[in-house]
Order: sequence, then structure tokens, then C-alpha cells
Amino acid sequence: MEPFPTLAEARRRAHALLDAHALAYLEGGSGAERTLRWNEEAFGRYVIRPTVCTGDAAPDITCTLLGEQLAMPILVAPFGLDRIFHPDGHRAVVQGAAEAGTVAIASSSSGYTLEDVHAASPAGAWAFQVSALGPVGVAERAARRAADTGYRALCITVDTPRPGWRERTLEDPDPPSAVELASANYGPDDFAERMAGAVGWTWAMVAALGAAAGLPWMAKGVLTAADARAAVAHGAAAVIVSNHGGRQLDGAPAAIDALPEVVAEVGAEVPVIIDGGIRHGSDVLIALALGATAVGIGRPAAWGLTAGGADGVARVLSILAEEYAIARTLAGGLEVAPRPRRSWRSDLNALG
Ligand SMILES: Cc1cc2nc3c(=O)[nH]c(=O)nc-3n(C[C@H](O)[C@H](O)[C@H](O)COP(=O)(O)O)c2cc1C
Repeated sequence: MEPFPTLAEARRRAHALLDAHALAYLEGGSGAERTLRWNEEAFGRYVIRPTVCTGDAAPDITCTLLGEQLAMPILVAPFGLDRIFHPDGHRAVVQGAAEAGTVAIASSSSGYTLEDVHAASPAGAWAFQVSALGPVGVAERAARRAADTGYRALCITVDTPRPGWRERTLEDPDPPSAVELASANYGPDDFAERMAGAVGWTWAMVAALGAAAGLPWMAKGVLTAADARAAVAHGAAAVIVSNHGGRQLDGAPAAIDALPEVVAEVGAEVPVIIDGGIRHGSDVLIALALGATAVGIGRPAAWGLTAGGADGVARVLSILAEEYAIARTLAGGLEVAPRPRRSWRSDLNALG
């Protein structure tokens, strides 16, 4: 792989390599794609307040997360249909994460079994993701297998009782077979039953799923203080503030806008991770300044995977870490504030 210098270039290369189906699946959101857009835009409503001449030339950007020692406060969020991006799929994702000194959450909607993914890099294969979706027994079997295989944490996605209304993929006349590409961890029947979305999950069921695996579990897809409190009350070891990259409830708040209330509610008790719209080191800085322990990246990791397999994933993570380190040095600390809003009225008043 010819190394790409920026995430934007990784994205361009991925777009040049992927067909229309894969692109619709990767870049699309749900409904009018408002939440998808807000995820990135919302970072622009913060300013970073720099402190200069601190005497610190190299701020420490390492991170401890549920006992994991990471080289950066950045990890790979789970994404499905991995094999449409690269033949090595999540095997390459966990290898790339480990290469960069961090970890990945492996999606259960994979073209590789969870055992195959773990074997590719036990260090990178930190957490296995299951959704609170479909029959409880099916999810529990996958979660137990993950624990037996050596995953160190379970990520329970709670914002997907059924897949969102994704127009780009609905309009796709000839979508790739999701069953083929994403059911390595479930038989075809289990896969169909899960997608029917006929099971109404509760927090008690989520807690039972976490307990069945016997692993520390995270609730992914929390956007309010009340849901964060419910997750922790039911035993979550961490909370992931996420709107699924704008792919589930359109109109849900941007992840960064939901972060402060979640941190205020549970941040003193459990680590809070955030994903959604992280594209630059300054986004990482804003998230950490607002109380996140770490951030997750979804689409950027898939761009790296497409552009260069494991090395591409590692490169995306390393670029983001380097940009974050530069931002930390330039900022001299972790202080952000809402961006001051100037109104026409005040501009006109200033003119007299
Ligand atoms: C192509 C794609 C597939 C995804 N599949 C899953 C999945 O299987 N399970 C899950 O919990 N989240 C899934 N997500 C959501 C991501 O984990 C994450 O929340 C989101 O991508 C973060 O936003 P970002 O793409 O702006 O970084 C998926 C996201 C994308 C882009």
C-alpha cells in the first residue's frame, strides 16, 4: 500500500475502490440523514481554548480503558459486512488496531467467525459486539462463544432493536447478500429471525446477556443521562455514547452534543466512550475535554481497511493519534467552550 497522508485521502482511495452497493452501505445514514450530518457538524460548535508556553512539548496521549493500556484514546468501533471492504475483513481490522497500539470492537455482523477474528490478533480483538436484537438465546450463544474464545469485553448495541430506515441501501437495486456477508456468527435462520426485529428488549434482558457472557460489558448507543443511568444500574462497565453513525434514529442528537449529559450522570463511575463524526485530532480533543475516556471510529476505519487492509487501518489510527498529539501540544491542555455566536444584530450595532 502506498501510504496515504490523511484520512481524507484514505476516504478518496476507498471510494475509488468500492462499488455502488458498498458505498451506499458505508456512507449512508437513516431517513433524511440529519443525524449523520450533525455528527460531524456539531464539533464545529466548540472552540478549543489554548494555553501557550506550558513547557510541555509532548503531552501523554496514552489511555487506560477497562484495564487495557492503549497508545491512544482511539479505538475501532464495530462495523458490519467487513468483507465488502476488504477480503480480510475484521481479521485485518484487529491486526491493524494492534499494530497501532490500540484495540477494536469486532462486529458480530461479520463475514468471519468471531474465533477467526480473534485468532488473527488476540491483542487487537478486545471486545466482541452483539446487538440487543432478535431472540435472546441467539445473542447469548454468540456472547458466550466470545467469552470462551478470549475476548476481554462485550459490547452490547442497544440502539438497534431493528435496523434503521436507510434509503441509500433501500434504493440499491441489487444489494449484496447480507446473509452471506454478515452471518458467519449466526446460522442463516438465526440471521433472518434477528432481522425480523420482533423481540422487544429491556434493560433486564441486556443485563442478563452481559451476565451470561461473564465479561465486562458496555452499552453502545446511549444518548441521554437517563439511559446512561439505566445502563450502569444494570451493570454496564462502560457506556458508549453513539447514534450508530447516524444509521438508526434520524433526528437523534449528534453524539458530541449528547456526551456532556452522559458524562455528568455516570462519568464519575464508568468510562464513557463516544463515536460518531470523529475525523480529526481536534475532534478527539473536544471529546476528551468534554469528559470522554476514549473515542471510536467507524467509517474512517473502513476507509483504511478498504485502502490498505491491516496496514490501512493502522495508518488511519496513527494519523488520528498524531493529529491529536499535535492538537494537544498546541492547545496546552484540554479546555473547550461553545463557539461564540455572532448575530447580525450585534454586527450592525457595532457599526453604529
Ligand atoms: C458500515 C457500517 C457498519 C456498521 N455496523 C455496525 C454493527 O454491526 N454494530 C454496531 O454496533 N455498530 C455498527 N456501526 C456503527 C459504528 O459502530 C459506529 O457507531 C459509527 O460508525 C460511528 O460513526 P462514524 O462512522 O462517524 O465514526 C456501523 C457503522 C458503519 C459505518
